[in-house]
Order: sequence, then C-alpha cells, then structure tokens
Amino acid sequence: MLSDNHESEGVEAKSQTERTDPNMPDESLHQAGRGDRKPRPQPRSPSAISVPPDSIVSIRNLSLFYGAKQALFDISMEIPKRKITALIGPSGCGKSTLLRCVNRLNDLIDGVRIDGQIQFEGTSINEPTLDINMLRKRIGMVFQKSNPFPKSIRENIAFGPRIHGINDKATLDEIVEKSLRRAALWDEVKDRLGESALGMSGGQQQRLCIARAIAVEPEVILFDEPCSALDPVATSKIEDLMEELKQDYTLLVVTHNMQQASRVSDYTAFFYLGKLIEYAQTEDLFTRPKMKQTEDYISGRFG
Ligand SMILES: Nc1ncnc2c1ncn2[C@@H]1O[C@H](COP(=O)(O)OP(=O)(O)OP(=O)(O)O)[C@@H](O)[C@H]1O
Ligand SMILES: [Mg+2]
Repeated sequence: MLSDNHESEGVEAKSQTERTDPNMPDESLHQAGRGDRKPRPQPRSPSAISVPPDSIVSIRNLSLFYGAKQALFDISMEIPKRKITALIGPSGCGKSTLLRCVNRLNDLIDGVRIDGQIQFEGTSINEPTLDINMLRKRIGMVFQKSNPFPKSIRENIAFGPRIHGINDKATLDEIVEKSLRRAALWDEVKDRLGESALGMSGGQQQRLCIARAIAVEPEVILFDEPCSALDPVATSKIEDLMEELKQDYTLLVVTHNMQQASRVSDYTAFFYLGKLIEYAQTEDLFTRPKMKQTEDYISGRFG
C-alpha cells in the first residue's frame, strides 16, 4: 500500500530555481526528459471559472471511471498557486477521487480509466514518461487518518529526504528540525525525537504527517479530510498551520466541514454526483452561491 510520498529510490531533485520561466513545461517530471511541448488546450467545460492567473495545477475535462462506473464528469478547474482551495460536497461525490488524480494515486486501483488532462506547472501528469516518484515528491499528500511509520519521530521525517539521496546526518537533523518547526510540532517533541511516533496523540501524529510531507519540499500538498478524526483543539492547530503553509505551498483540501472550508480556504469547489457544480472565491460561494444545488448544500438541506 502506498501510504505516503516517499516510495522512490535514487531520484535526483532538480532545483526549482533552475526553471526561469514558470510557464514553461517542467521537464524534470519526465524520466526521459521529454517535455510536453504541445500548446495548452483551453478548457471547454462550462464549470471552469477564472481564478488568478498563476495556476499551478490545471484540470481539463477530466472524467474518471471505476470500471463501468463513472465517478467524475468532465471536471475543469484551475488550482491557484499558494492559496488554499477547498473541495466540498456530499459523501461519494468524487472529492477524494479527484484529489488522488492529482498525484496519480488512482493508478494503484485496478480498472480505473481517466479521460482528459491534468497539468502541473504546464506538464501533463498523465504522460507515460512521467517520473511518478518525482511527481509525488512535488505533490505531497496527507490523509484522513494519520499514518506515521512505526519508527521514531526523527526517522519519520528523515525517511523521505534519505530516499531522495540525502544521507548526511547534520543535513538530515536540520531538515527534521525545520520540518517539525514548520508543522508547529517542534516544541512538543524536540526532547523525544528518538521515541516512537506511535506514542504521539492523534493531533500530533497528523502534524507529524504534515511535517513528513514538507520534509521533501513539495510545492503542492493534498489534504483528504485531515481533521475529521481530530478534536476541536487539534483541528484548530491544523487550520492555523494551513494558513501558515500557504505562504510557501499550494494546498488542496477536501473537507466535510463547511465552517472549516469557509475559515481556511481562499477558493471553494462544490461537487455533486461527480460533477463540479460551482467553483468560486470562498466568500462568494458561501454568501452568494450561483447554483441552487450549492445553496441547498451549504444551507444544510442535503448532504
Ligand atoms: N476504488 C474504488 N472502486 C470503485 N468505486 C470507487 C472506488 N473509490 C471510490 N469509488 C466510487 O466513486 C465515487 C466517488 O467516491 P469518492 O471516494 O471519491 O467520494 P468522496 O466525495 O471522497 O466521498 P467521502 O466524502 O465519503 O469521502 C463513489 O460512488 C464511490 O463509491
Ligand atoms: Mg473522500
């Protein structure tokens, strides 16, 4: 089972600073160095909305089938860079499915077929030449149920960087401290880095998983209901942390909690039965929804 983003071996990270033009396709994602040089197709779907120009992930006419069952219908949306975008909607509407498409976790499920495209920094992520380990390094994921490795706190964080070729102890120690600080966990665990991560509280374990995702320096972090197993205090710590993180990262967050979506996100996308019904700035979606289904959902009439 793929439980996080650190499955690769010996992959060399290409420095982000080497890419001078952010609009150029990013060839570092391709094993054979073959970039996708085709002009970007324009979104056709009426559900696409215009968001700030600096989109980092473009989802274009994406449909997904689990065998004969279609779970996503012609989704088009742009995910803005260094913002928090929330995905909301009733159970079974395809939120997790869409999130998993963004770092190709659905590849692990038999019988999945995908039409349409997802581009990350201008490069299609569905190309056969894509280096999937590099993609998952750059697009990390935090799951609903925290899933620390049965290792020490330190080892949980050092694991990913080590897989990506960092072996120097001092550098790893630095990454461990920086990542734990970034995840607002350092002060709570700095005296017990050698202890098992499984002895931490649920909220601490979830912040550890966020620290572990950060340790490999991703650009995008996908969160699938990161707070649904946490109490209000731990939830509010994660929400504060998300606010912090968006200074450096793009966050895409699935949540069932509409207060959470309205508190933390900049943009919100409402899904229903596999379709993107409405996507707008969060304040607009919650105060002036354009679609009746959105209004019914946010006012608690269904879901
Ligand atoms: N591995 C799978 N095989 C077959 N069908 C699946 C699979 N995963 C999800 N589905 C189906 O796809 C649809 C969307 O599921 P998904 O898990 O993406 O919804 P969701 O919006 O995340 O729901 P929830 O809020 O309950 O987590 C559902 O009808 C679900 O039954
Ligand atoms: Mg889900």
